[in-house]
Amino acid sequence: MERFYTLAFAAGIGCFAVAFVLSIAFPVMSLDNYKGMEYQSLEQLAETPSQSFVDLSTSYPEAFAEAFGEMNSESYGEALRRGRDIYIGQACWHCHSQYVRVVSNEEQRFGTPSTAQEYNNYLNQPHLWGTRRVGPDLAREYGKRTNDWHIAHLINPKNVVPLSVMPAYAYYFNEDGSPKRDGFSLVTYLQWIGSTYKGDPQP
Ligand code: HEC
Repeated sequence: MERFYTLAFAAGIGCFAVAFVLSIAFPVMSLDNYKGMEYQSLEQLAETPSQSFVDLSTSYPEAFAEAFGEMNSESYGEALRRGRDIYIGQACWHCHSQYVRVVSNEEQRFGTPSTAQEYNNYLNQPHLWGTRRVGPDLAREYGKRTNDWHIAHLINPKNVVPLSVMPAYAYYFNEDGSPKRDGFSLVTYLQWIGSTYKGDPQP
């Protein structure tokens, strides 16, 4: 009997060791395919302002001018960086992942599993993969919703998803619904996440 326990104990340790080594080996192997992939700086990412950022500047000309002055690659870069910082500061990552996993048929909901290439840029380092999914994965949020949808949702998620448990972030917006500087930044960032994905369109 004692020999059985010793064997089970050794097998347990063995399985743990194998899992530990594989959890290092698999990510390294997947990164290996992308040796030599190019890193994109904030300036490169912001070179051409997104359509969503352009639209924000024309939909809310006064609020936009007050927040950023001109619509150009410089203000776009600033909005992206600020939006990412708010996302970290507000712990949005506590409820949202930014990683399409290779398991559980995730491709049916979010598209092809995430690859290293998508994360090799300024706005994705540090990675905001997250582990919990109280809300949906946001890795491919790009182009999925309109600016208006995001604004209505951030002011009060129940505006558009009646049973939502996401907190409201109304303080990033003025009384009339126009975004403040941080509101512009957050929407701009949300509309950017996933734009580095070059694979098949999401389902
Ligand atoms: C307490 C958990 C929680 C926190 C914190 C949270 N969310 Fe959510 N979020 C949710 C849930 C649940 C949903 C799904 C229901 C809905 O759409 O409101 C959601 C949905 C979303 C969606 C819609 C995705 C889509 O296209 O359907 C976006 C965008 C989003 N959240 C952004 C954010 C941002 C940005 C923050 C931080 C400022 C944040 N969330 C913080 C729980 C959370």
